[in-house]
Amino acid sequence: MKRKIITTADGSKTIQIEEWDEQYHSKHGAIQEANHVFIKHGLYHFCHSERSEESLVNLSILEIGFGTGLNAFITYLEAEKLKVNINYVGVEAYPISAEELSALNYVDLLSKENDVFKKLHDVSWEAEHIINKYFSLTKRKQFFEDIQDIEKYNLIYFDAFGARVQPELWTETIFKIMFKALKPKGVLVTYSAKGSVRRAMQSVGFIVERLEGPPGKREMLRACKKM
Ligand SMILES: C[S@@+](CC[C@H](N)C(=O)[O-])C[C@H]1O[C@@H](n2cnc3c(N)ncnc32)[C@H](O)[C@@H]1O
Repeated sequence: MKRKIITTADGSKTIQIEEWDEQYHSKHGAIQEANHVFIKHGLYHFCHSERSEESLVNLSILEIGFGTGLNAFITYLEAEKLKVNINYVGVEAYPISAEELSALNYVDLLSKENDVFKKLHDVSWEAEHIINKYFSLTKRKQFFEDIQDIEKYNLIYFDAFGARVQPELWTETIFKIMFKALKPKGVLVTYSAKGSVRRAMQSVGFIVERLEGPPGKREMLRACKKM
């Protein structure tokens, strides 16, 4: 499918799938959305709520849809501020091209650590890479449907394309895979607030909260594996 680079309302770029009229991030602001959904309501929520000492120092995160690497890059920047060791796994079946990567402006807007953003993309797939003292990255070229991890993650960033275009990724089958992959008390966050998505999450055992959404969106969801 044809992809093109567009600029979102906060000045950050994203990729659009023209045929679907679907973006990798919100048109209202790619960086704003990532910060609100995944960092504020995911990473910060997890670090500031009561967790075992072990999971606070060492946190494992699974990203559903590595895409542009924006969520991974922001999480890398936050890990250093929070002094938390993050073991980050990004799953992606269709990696972006070098040309698309060079058109993204996240480094200019977020930090001057150009080398790190590039490194997140340059490192090989299917292997763990130590990026710095606080952040290690494993990229897996895999379909979400084939994930088989068991109780491995504290946090899941669920960032698939919307249910309008990929309804098969917002089903009980997929959320069962996510539920299994989380450790007890693990948390999944997503930008979606659809009723059918919430019900699919609840039916596999998640306790689901509706939270205020990022700019341009009324609500989002956070699901917890309470057991
Ligand atoms: C909304 S975008 C992810 C955006 C990404 N988190 C970022 O920060 O750029 C969804 C991603 O899921 C990938 N994808 C779509 N269907 C998939 C599937 N069945 N398995 C694995 N990856 C898939 C797409 O290639 C795309 O990169």
